[in-house]
Amino acid sequence: MLVSAKEMLTKAREGKYAVGQFNINNLEWTKAILLTAQENNSPVILGVSEGAGKYMCGYTTIVGMVEGMIKELNITVPVALHLDHGSYEGAKACINAGFSSIMFDGSHYPIEENIAKTTELVNACNVLGLSLEAEVGSIGGEEDGVVGAGECADPDECKAVADLGITMLAAGIGNIHGKYPENWAGLSFETLAAIKEKVGDMPLVLHGGTGIPAEMIQKAISLGVAKINVNTECQLAFQEATRKYIEAGKDLQGKGFDPRKLLAPGFEAIKATVKEKMELFGSINKA
Ligand code: 13P
Repeated sequence: MLVSAKEMLTKAREGKYAVGQFNINNLEWTKAILLTAQENNSPVILGVSEGAGKYMCGYTTIVGMVEGMIKELNITVPVALHLDHGSYEGAKACINAGFSSIMFDGSHYPIEENIAKTTELVNACNVLGLSLEAEVGSIGGEEDGVVGAGECADPDECKAVADLGITMLAAGIGNIHGKYPENWAGLSFETLAAIKEKVGDMPLVLHGGTGIPAEMIQKAISLGVAKINVNTECQLAFQEATRKYIEAGKDLQGKGFDPRKLLAPGFEAIKATVKEKMELFGSINKA
């Protein structure tokens, strides 16, 4: 059964570890993450971007696939199915489709509009017992070769959004999606500490978990981060393993590649990456 992320994140914050959100793109990705969580007795959050949602034939298909896997694979650790960086419309669609957790990313709206839309979604999620993540201060990233520095959130705006009754808060602290550029200034722990001071016990979310050095991850957890999102690192591991397999020409036999065998090295690479992150975040044996 899918669960809200509330209880797992409250426990993580209290126990000073973080639960990983790993984004899914297809069946293999999902199966690899669920099996790794079960094998390591770790809670887990499956992230679905709106683009991945379209790719996987819509939100109801994803709910069916994940619920089916939880049953068929005997997954007993807590699993939340979470919309990642949802629009207002996307959030409503995922609530209706049966997701157990929602992120509404209103960080690009003026703060008043972010607050108004987040408030509506707090009410909708509360009725159904779903967890809700909101965002203040946009997360930077590289798009079409343009590198945007991660913006630092305003601690007072963080407090205003946290007070709406959300479950967890993503706040920009200089983090960036994708690979970090060589000249990245690092996470702003000053900003994180100021946000924590204002929002108290609210579990904080660190986006852009790929490539953040271990000591920064640990410091972030000590300052209230209880959920860390990872996407690019799984993609890189998957593509590298698949490329090596194709270059080795292992499965040709004159018939072309068997898709199940072709995807197997990528599947194993995702499992290894997810396990490594769970170790780093401290969520192993915390289910
Ligand atoms: P990375 O792709 O940098 O790991 O970030 C993932 C993320 O934050 C998804 O919301």
